[in-house]
Amino acid sequence: MKKFIDDLKNTYRPGFSLPAEFYQSEQLYRHELDSIFFRSWIYAGHVSEVPDGGCYFLTEIANESVIIVRDKQQDIRAFANVCRHRGSRICSKPKGRVKTLVCPYHAWAYELDGKLRSRREMPESFETSEYGLKPVRMEVFHGMIFITFSESAPSLNTCLAEVSPCFDIYGLAQTKVAKQETFTVNANWKLALENFMECYHCAPAHVEYSKFHTLKSPKDAEAFHPAMIKRAIELDYDTRSIDDQSEHGLSESVQHFYNRKALYDPFVSGSKDGGPAAPLLGSVKEYGGGVADFQIGPLTYGILYPDHAVIYRFLPTDLQVTDMEIVWLVNENAEEDKDYDLDNLTWLWTVTTEADKEIILNNQQGVNSRYYEPGPFSKMEDYTQSCLEWYLREL
Ligand code: FES
Ligand SMILES: [Fe+2]
Repeated sequence: MKKFIDDLKNTYRPGFSLPAEFYQSEQLYRHELDSIFFRSWIYAGHVSEVPDGGCYFLTEIANESVIIVRDKQQDIRAFANVCRHRGSRICSKPKGRVKTLVCPYHAWAYELDGKLRSRREMPESFETSEYGLKPVRMEVFHGMIFITFSESAPSLNTCLAEVSPCFDIYGLAQTKVAKQETFTVNANWKLALENFMECYHCAPAHVEYSKFHTLKSPKDAEAFHPAMIKRAIELDYDTRSIDDQSEHGLSESVQHFYNRKALYDPFVSGSKDGGPAAPLLGSVKEYGGGVADFQIGPLTYGILYPDHAVIYRFLPTDLQVTDMEIVWLVNENAEEDKDYDLDNLTWLWTVTTEADKEIILNNQQGVNSRYYEPGPFSKMEDYTQSCLEWYLREL
């Protein structure tokens, strides 16, 4: 395997897109599952999805299924959805509320804290305490539940300590899921991420997004930045720009960034017309004409508008199939139809992601052609490039 990976890495030419084999090799894909996915912290869901003891939801990552459940003591826990008897999946419904977790195969029942409670017809010598559900590492960051399959990955909250105050004003722990949608694209996960990491394509491909967000033009982003930052300081937004995107590996850090970008005046949010979309989040005082972008780990991204948050998660389900999941969070007290209109709230990132889905698919189809050859990145694709370099080191 090592020789295969080294040979493949040697085909990469810095400053250029990756050779086709990176998007076509089953062997590489399996290696990526172990070297990237199962070592990363990945967004699993929001605390509001398990409001009471017994509430659970499943999160599926590659071939793994994880039960996120709130136990009777109100602690949130994560377990492998694998029975300790003969390995059956325990929960099959994506979410629900239960008193105990009962395996459908031979009815072993587990407490919500994972302990095995009852098992039928087992010998006297059977040690119940040895057959609890296997815990999966989990940490909550500002209401967002993250899991990792790695025992050695560093603590999420320790790695994010510096950036954590940037999230305070948004009160994300006091939000709820307004909508969640999965967009499946028939392309390798790297093409989906590469696309998300650059805004070179925004002006030609996303007219709706480009109407509000200055990021589509580096000149405009720079020109509008000072006034937006001045206003953000007055309104107590955290105006730091933090970037730990590429230097560190998964064994030392959780890569992340946070920064603020200006919206074109007079737009204030990611709604249909750029006007307010929902009640303000957390302790946000006023709109201020800015929006924050963040990344946590290699697969989770987010956009923090003053009145809602959009979380993006990229998950491969096969070599050339990727789920792009979007979650819209609003103030927990906001009522649909009264305080926000769901279509207005979700329209921008729905049309933007539909467009991305098409672009990414076109990209995969072109890369699958015998005529594809890696092409040079522009200056506006710096982030994509540093992300690829990080990826190559992690392999
Ligand atoms: S496999 Fe779960 S009870 Fe038998
Ligand atoms: Fe895009």
